[in-house]
Amino acid sequence: MPAELIDGVAVAKLVRADVARDTDALVRGGVTPGLTVVLVGEDPASAVYVRSKEKACVEAGMKGETIRLPADTPQAELLALIDRLNADATVHGILVQMPVPKHIDPQAVILRIAPEKDVDGFHPVNVGRVWIGEKSGFAPCTPAGVMVLLERAGVDVSGKNVVVLGRSNIVGKPMVSLLVAASATVTVCHSKTRDLPSVVRGADILIAAIGKPEFVTADMVKPGAVVIDVGINRVDDATQAKGYRLCGDVHFASVSQVASKITPVPGGVGPMTIAMLLKNTVRAAAQELAAGQAAGTA
Ligand code: GUN
Repeated sequence: MPAELIDGVAVAKLVRADVARDTDALVRGGVTPGLTVVLVGEDPASAVYVRSKEKACVEAGMKGETIRLPADTPQAELLALIDRLNADATVHGILVQMPVPKHIDPQAVILRIAPEKDVDGFHPVNVGRVWIGEKSGFAPCTPAGVMVLLERAGVDVSGKNVVVLGRSNIVGKPMVSLLVAASATVTVCHSKTRDLPSVVRGADILIAAIGKPEFVTADMVKPGAVVIDVGINRVDDATQAKGYRLCGDVHFASVSQVASKITPVPGGVGPMTIAMLLKNTVRAAAQELAAGQAAGTA
């Protein structure tokens, strides 16, 4: 029996409608939430993501701005720009699109963004806040989107064995943080995990974020498991006009025959990432307004 599809496009639409409502309330109160995205260089995939982010902001009624810098921009110049954005009261969220060119240290960039404007949730202050369950922290958008997808699909993670495949700072590690907070029993697998297929087979819920096209096959999945595919990979395909096709980290055709629920690629986790970015930005604006009111400056 084929698995039920978890429709990320539909869930993202619901989240974006919530965001538009919250944005409208803030605008009526005199504050327009603003997100500034900084893109250094001309990586084509990054350029596509950045355009989608700006468009989504504007559709939600926010101020969306993109600052494009040449690939040879010195690190000091990028850090000075971040300082200006940190000080700009009309900017509530700052996102520097990763990866940055090789001569720029991504950690220096992340550390420079004020934690209150770090809507990516990459700053160590936000990592810590989310880990200890402090509500003011921003969780990274992709894992936060996975949690919303699971909830909307009626999947209760409490007490379940959840296997996270991949340990990146952007997805794997914050995924653990959010799952533990939701009372899941979590195992993280990576390139050094011994007998990885047998560990993955123990999962009631599998979250694949390993960056390897179609890595997870049906024999690695327990019948009835819920499978969330975070991967988005381009693989050569001469039958496609573009010469490639998109696929996830899960071999969809076979795994969808054994799982109970599964996300497609595209149309699963991807649309949630932008929706959660908007959600973080509107929350940053609301928190900033509340802090200003408490301090008597707003
Ligand atoms: N590059 C790919 N995904 C992301 C993301 O979520 N945030 C940033 N800043 N860069 C990315």
